[in-house]
This record gives sequence, structure tokens and C-alpha cells, in this order.
Amino acid sequence: MNLQKSSEIPEEFFRVCSLKELPDKTGKRFFVNDTDIAVFKINGEIFALSNTCPHQHSSVIYDGIIEDNYILCPVHGWKFNLANGTLPSGSGGLDSYEVILSGNDVYVKVIKKELKW
Ligand code: FES
Repeated sequence: MNLQKSSEIPEEFFRVCSLKELPDKTGKRFFVNDTDIAVFKINGEIFALSNTCPHQHSSVIYDGIIEDNYILCPVHGWKFNLANGTLPSGSGGLDSYEVILSGNDVYVKVIKKELKW
């Protein structure tokens, strides 16, 4: 992926795609600095979450089912809040990433995380 930056966008944000590349209510997978993320556009809002389910570490969250304010992992159906990645209990879940929309460009703040499985 070509990581481009505008001078108005904070340094830690990376361009992932244009708004047009995000179909409504369908997730897309991107890699930002080797971090696997799932990006969703739902009713004009953009959400960015880790693409790797904490249950069995399947990297398929982008292909999940959108249900109300949640994304359901397509493997066994664990539910994660789209806004912050948490489980319905409010704890754990997926990392979520800040998003900036600048013109037609979608930027995501991804801080590389060391996985300890
Ligand atoms: S791998 Fe996601 S719910 Fe099991």
C-alpha cells in the first residue's frame, strides 16, 4: 500500500484509501505498518478495528456481519462494538483506531502493537 500524508494530517495517521473505495456496510481489509485492520463505512461513519479476532486469532473481522452497532466475527460470532472494539460486556475485544476523513481520503491512526499470544 502506498502510504501518503498531507501536511494537515497528524504524523501518526496513515492514508488507507479514498472514501469511494469503501462500500457501504461492507468491511475492507488493509495493512498499515504491518498491522492488519478492518475498515467499515456505515451510514456515513467510518470505523477502523483490528482485523484479528481475539478468540482464535482469525484475521477475518473485515468479512464479519454488521448488526446494529456491532461487527460479528464470521467464524464463531463473537460480537465487537464498532465504535471501540469492546465485547458486549464492555471489556476486552479488538483494538480500535482513530479515523480522520480529509476530503475524500480516509486516514487511520495505527500504533504498532506487539502481540503476546
Ligand atoms: S475466531 Fe472469531 S469468534 Fe471464533
